[in-house]
Amino acid sequence: MVKGRLASSRLDNFTPKLQNGFEKQFLKSIGDYGSGDLVDIVRNSMYAAVMDNLFGENVLPTINQKEFMVTAKHFILFDEQFEYGARLPPLFLSKWSAAKRHLLGIFSGVIRGLNQEMKEPQTETLLETLVGLVDKQHAPNYGLLLLWASLANAIPITFWTLSFIHSDQGVLNKLRSDIDNAVQTVQKDGNICYDEEFFRKVPYLKWCILEAIRLKSVGIITRRVVKAFQVKGQTIPEGDMLMLSPFWAHRNPKYFENPNHYNPDRWRNADLEKNLFLDGFVAFGGGRYQCPGRYDLGINILITFKIV
Ligand code: HEM
Repeated sequence: MVKGRLASSRLDNFTPKLQNGFEKQFLKSIGDYGSGDLVDIVRNSMYAAVMDNLFGENVLPTINQKEFMVTAKHFILFDEQFEYGARLPPLFLSKWSAAKRHLLGIFSGVIRGLNQEMKEPQTETLLETLVGLVDKQHAPNYGLLLLWASLANAIPITFWTLSFIHSDQGVLNKLRSDIDNAVQTVQKDGNICYDEEFFRKVPYLKWCILEAIRLKSVGIITRRVVKAFQVKGQTIPEGDMLMLSPFWAHRNPKYFENPNHYNPDRWRNADLEKNLFLDGFVAFGGGRYQCPGRYDLGINILITFKIV
């Protein structure tokens, strides 16, 4: 159900709230000088806007700047050491464990305060849908996992997209000119609505993001074999771990010509209108646990657009 909610949440569902959220946070993060550290700009612009959109306005603290900064600080630590924290006993990573406890504490409070009244599915936040589906005891853990899953990839991908675009003058010029042309065609009475229709006129922006995802994909996706099965005459026994490396799969010249080169134009061959990626592209995993946010590049699109 949660996956269904994500799959159906196309860009229009996020805009214009996301748009306003990014706008506010982005202007705040670049300050009076119009510059700053790119990682901080991306983080500061995205955290609050994504939290408000997935979990509800100020459900996680986003309005009170001091509370928001404390939450963000704990989230950054939680995210940076997640791979270790998820495997090692708390004893070895006391700061990570404290950050996790802090975030779980916030989610516990939020979930206790959720209005239990039945709502129309369209008006429910993603958190409310999630809490209705999982066991109450572990609801804060699921909430935190959802927050992590939605930000942990979206933020680095936005950072890398912007870095790649700004490292190649040809790509930057093309993107700016496509955006300028789209602005001219949709401008009505001096007002522009940056909705899905607008972004459909700039497919190059989506290609730039997908190309960054291709080059900066996760190293490994793992699955434990729960029942032995056969592949090409070989038995894969129960208990084995199977691993897929999107990072290396995306460097296979059989599928991606000149694979190390950042070339958004290669995405011209993908039928993105039908949500079909390029052959050999496995950045979002596969099967039952495939990323439900895979078609929703709206989060990345808006902030990349804003900064370009
Ligand atoms: C742009 C960036 C993103 C990338 C590259 C990405 C990548 C991934 C990958 C590789 C997985 C593991 C898939 C598997 O094991 O087969 C995953 C899972 C997941 N992703 Fe994403 N993701 C992105 C954005 C998002 C967003 C924006 C959301 C939420 C709004 C999201 C929510 C999730 C969730 C909930 C899971 C766990 C699915 C499950 O275990 O059933 N992701 N993602």
